[in-house]
Amino acid sequence: MLEIRKLQESDSILGLTLLLHRAYARLGAMGLNYTAVDQAPEVTEKRIRGGNCFVVASGSKLVGTIVVHPTYVENACEYFTRSGVAAAHQFAVDPEHQGAGIGRMLLQRAERWAKEAGFVELAIDTAEQATHLVELYERLGYRHVGWVQWPGKVYRSMVLSKPLVANA
Ligand SMILES: CC(C)(COP(=O)(O)OP(=O)(O)OC[C@H]1O[C@@H](n2cnc3c(N)ncnc32)[C@H](O)[C@@H]1OP(=O)(O)O)[C@@H](O)C(=O)NCCC(=O)NCCS
Repeated sequence: MLEIRKLQESDSILGLTLLLHRAYARLGAMGLNYTAVDQAPEVTEKRIRGGNCFVVASGSKLVGTIVVHPTYVENACEYFTRSGVAAAHQFAVDPEHQGAGIGRMLLQRAERWAKEAGFVELAIDTAEQATHLVELYERLGYRHVGWVQWPGKVYRSMVLSKPLVANA
């Protein structure tokens, strides 16, 4: 039985990190050095800080996650600093559970959190070469709004955003 909830104290940060590694391995194999391909547990924790981490769990096993962060004061991605814009990252579903609607559910949960907190858009970014992800986001209502070049990344990222319409 799967449940969606906030990350809690008893959840393993190492387990969450290994889930991220498993999910992002495909992107790593494409030569895209996303942080989550091989980040240390300390980096997972740091990337959760200041935001809200949602997980999908099957008992104590984590099978999916997303972090949604309020508008950044400072960020290499200018779009993430715009008033009313929340941002999502560290988005993953265990490969064994992909394609079953869990990702959509997590993104919707992040959108709900952002809307309830008064944000008017949820933005996300992904490597321009990851066309399967760009298609996925576009299918879910996200539109291309800009670009960002993260330090140390071999790719340019596309920024996509979705308006959070009241009562939608
Ligand atoms: C991206 C990811 C989180 C999506 O989770 P998921 O549980 O597999 O996604 P879902 O089953 O909920 O599918 C979501 C939607 O995207 C669509 N989709 C899924 N894979 C797709 C693909 N390769 N190309 C286009 N659309 C796709 C689905 O059809 C679905 O739309 P629909 O409900 O209208 O049919 C998951 O695949 C993953 O962990 N990937 C590796 C890590 C990653 O890429 N993270 C994001 C980095 S920006």
